[in-house]
Amino acid sequence: MARDFTQNSIRTYKRRGSRVTANQQSARDLHWNRWGLAPEGIVDLRALLAPAREVVLEVGSGMGETTALMAAASPEIAIVAAEVHKPGIGALLAYASTQNLMNVRIFDGDALDLMRDHLASDSLDGVRLYFPDPWPKFKHHKRRIFNEEFLNLVFSRVRAGGFLHAATDWFEYAQWMQSFASKDPRFVGGVIDRPDWRPLTKFEGQGLGKGHVVTDLYYEIMK
Ligand SMILES: C[S@@+](CC[C@H](N)C(=O)[O-])C[C@H]1O[C@@H](n2cnc3c(N)ncnc32)[C@H](O)[C@@H]1O
Repeated sequence: MARDFTQNSIRTYKRRGSRVTANQQSARDLHWNRWGLAPEGIVDLRALLAPAREVVLEVGSGMGETTALMAAASPEIAIVAAEVHKPGIGALLAYASTQNLMNVRIFDGDALDLMRDHLASDSLDGVRLYFPDPWPKFKHHKRRIFNEEFLNLVFSRVRAGGFLHAATDWFEYAQWMQSFASKDPRFVGGVIDRPDWRPLTKFEGQGLGKGHVVTDLYYEIMK
């Protein structure tokens, strides 16, 4: 089930319908220069996002509503939101500009490319992975973002003592995540209670509506 991150030929997302609304497009046109992140080469996120105390990467921020809530609640924590879904990027740009969220930057593209090609070692304080696509069919498991290579990349880009926080409403995917992390002594932790500060995401709400159980996994990175 190995995935080649050097080529990234297997993507972890599905191309969803991406009809961008007029508001999302206008947010993109007006606010990308201020809140967009389009690095050439390695980007120094700590300098870019100073005076934030921490810099966290959110992989797959979806429609961005919870990203905006978390950024507003904790201005000292900067969030770099990586997303490929154009309407979601537009929506988060709109939240960021309306609320003047100085601690948010938005990357339009694959978070794995961002980490691999544009972030230095130890440049992040943590990674948030909330409700990644579960790819439930066996033949699609290779598209799941959480695997050994993902842990290697996270380990490299997150500083010692930093974290990986994942949440999923797909019980079998939670077990899958644990099976990788529990084999890796560099990741210490496991299931935690749902933190109060993590707002309910759109996909989480949909999962709960279907009777799914949500699992939060939190690992400290040991170097
Ligand atoms: C199921 S949705 C969850 C969105 C959001 N976190 C939530 O809980 O509402 C997963 C999101 O991750 C995005 N995604 C998947 N793989 C990605 C990757 N490699 N880089 C950036 N975004 C990715 C998808 O486009 C999608 O919007």
